[in-house]
Amino acid sequence: MSADFIDLPQLLSARGTVRLPGSKSISNRVLLLAALAAGETEVRDLLLSDDTARMLDALRTLGVGVEPGAGNRWCISGVAGRFPVRASELFLGNAGTAFRPLTAVLALAGGHYRMAGVARMHERPIGDLVDALRQLGADISYLGNEGFPPLAIRPPALLPGRVVSLRGDVSSQFLTGLLMALPLLGVETTVEVIGELISKPYVEITLASMARFGVHVRRDGWRRFTVPADSGYRSPGVVHVEGDASSASYFLALGAIGGGPLRVEGVGLDSIQGDVRFTEALAAMGAQVSSGDNWIEASAPVAGTGTLRGISLDCNHIPDAAMTLATTALFAVGPTTLRNIASWRVKETDRIAAMATELRKLGVRVDAGDDFIRVYPPGAGQFLHPAAIDTYDDHRIAMCFSLAALGTPLRINDPQSVGKTFPDYFARFAEVSRGVPVIAIDGTSASGKGTIATRVAQALGWHYLDSGALYRLTALAAGRAGIGVDDEAGVAAVAADLDVVFSGASITLSGEEVSDAIRSEEISAAASRVAALPAVRAALLFRQRAFRRPPGLVADGRDMASVVFPDALTKVFLTASVEMRAWRRHKQLIEKGMAASIAALSLDLRERDERDSQRSVAPMQQSADAELLDTTNLTIETAVAQVLDWVNKVPKVG
Ligand code: DC
Repeated sequence: MSADFIDLPQLLSARGTVRLPGSKSISNRVLLLAALAAGETEVRDLLLSDDTARMLDALRTLGVGVEPGAGNRWCISGVAGRFPVRASELFLGNAGTAFRPLTAVLALAGGHYRMAGVARMHERPIGDLVDALRQLGADISYLGNEGFPPLAIRPPALLPGRVVSLRGDVSSQFLTGLLMALPLLGVETTVEVIGELISKPYVEITLASMARFGVHVRRDGWRRFTVPADSGYRSPGVVHVEGDASSASYFLALGAIGGGPLRVEGVGLDSIQGDVRFTEALAAMGAQVSSGDNWIEASAPVAGTGTLRGISLDCNHIPDAAMTLATTALFAVGPTTLRNIASWRVKETDRIAAMATELRKLGVRVDAGDDFIRVYPPGAGQFLHPAAIDTYDDHRIAMCFSLAALGTPLRINDPQSVGKTFPDYFARFAEVSRGVPVIAIDGTSASGKGTIATRVAQALGWHYLDSGALYRLTALAAGRAGIGVDDEAGVAAVAADLDVVFSGASITLSGEEVSDAIRSEEISAAASRVAALPAVRAALLFRQRAFRRPPGLVADGRDMASVVFPDALTKVFLTASVEMRAWRRHKQLIEKGMAASIAALSLDLRERDERDSQRSVAPMQQSADAELLDTTNLTIETAVAQVLDWVNKVPKVG
């Protein structure tokens, strides 16, 4: 399957338990400290993701012994403050948690290094950290733009000045990097923070991690931090990495919106990660939150039913998890305002701009400014629009938008961006969420699919998708635009832009009633041809999936069970003898006042069956898990009753 997008069905509910991957922030700090320490460290529950892979690669390049063991255990052989490799080039992707601290450490360690990343990394500022390091005598030059990576580092000419000032209002990672590097100097050094220090909880993680490796930083509030003389790192032996509290936020929000209870394991409220305070924001929105030893759980307000309410919150203490609140806000009563989030603008992407753009695709109002975002839920009687969400190479955008699936079918483009912190996010997500149910009814032309599927939908009170109509509409619209079937890209563009409204038995194309026009034999033949074009099928895929709205969908076609809704709860393959199908079609056409011959119809049906089942993409076929229903000798009532019987036999989940 292509990894270019993932389509999420609209969800009915969410509950269950998720074991969290290790924290990115803790993993990368622990790896670097273990590398700098004297002695070997066994790191347990390390996060395996793009960002930690960048750090592991860099450490190997620097000559640090880095060995994987069983079950996410890693053995790091510390170099006691002196990297064996004194000259190298490091590539750090878009991993800020690797780039910033390594810059500080290498600038003070002594050696010749070049440090680069992806294009976005070269747009993320690092000047404040470089300025601070230069006060200590570091020799760092910019290889591209002043104040930004890539960087060239040469051995420092260490200066006697032992008080360094550092701006704290752009990224807390600068202070983190500097503090982690200072023990290399061996003399007492004080950092004075200029301006308001942002994202303070991340500095807490840094101090706690350093303490674990034997270095205790003295501090005066958030203004002055002093690293004592002779404070080299020593391995504590074994270090456990907590589950990632930012990753927890998606599942806790999922439980709060989707009913719950949803439990995350691997982190408790006593965590050293500031993002556990996301739970306070969720509780302020009305969610029920509970926790225990190494787990946290969230449910909707009032025993799994009530509705969340919008809040206004200063999010400086939870900059990452706050993004989760922006999509949770879609399900609250009243707007939600997230304040003091200017740091979003210098993260993996400009997160304020990206969130506003993508939220608006869902049809909601969003106000955004330099350091805030305000999200309005859909108005009374309004629903979120199905949309294709772009993710800007930003894992958190991909993950927090998955929550919108509780309000609409959704496409998430480039979902592999989650690899930065949570490579199997969507698999875990699928395990704890329940999609709107689908009954897929595939089969040969004129086998009675449409009639039976419509009646089943009526009996259940569910929505109905006549997918064949979309191919017929495409054929009609392409014909009218003078685009031939051999022009695959042209027909696909028509399919992508169809302006169609389904309303009961009526189908309008660009405002014109076409429900009869698309049933002609000429369009039947043309539809079968356009349906064989892969680009046309791709263009219609999400449009079909967008029909999956509560309480359920009955979909008929050729590839409903195999391609469009492979997770359908009930799959049926309908057929009938060619003679019976020709006779039924003949009757239909005569009733509509159209001329027809049974012999010609039989021939057409055989040809279409042949083309539909022989084409290279999504050929008509009975899925292995589909029930076969031959309607040659069945009345419509009996066939409908049989399908409903199969539906009722499916065990109800969730
Ligand atoms: O079901 P129908 O006869 O209205 O379908 C019209 C054509 O569209 C038919 O030749 C097969 C094609 N089709 C398809 O390829 N995939 C679907 N899911 C539905 C129809």
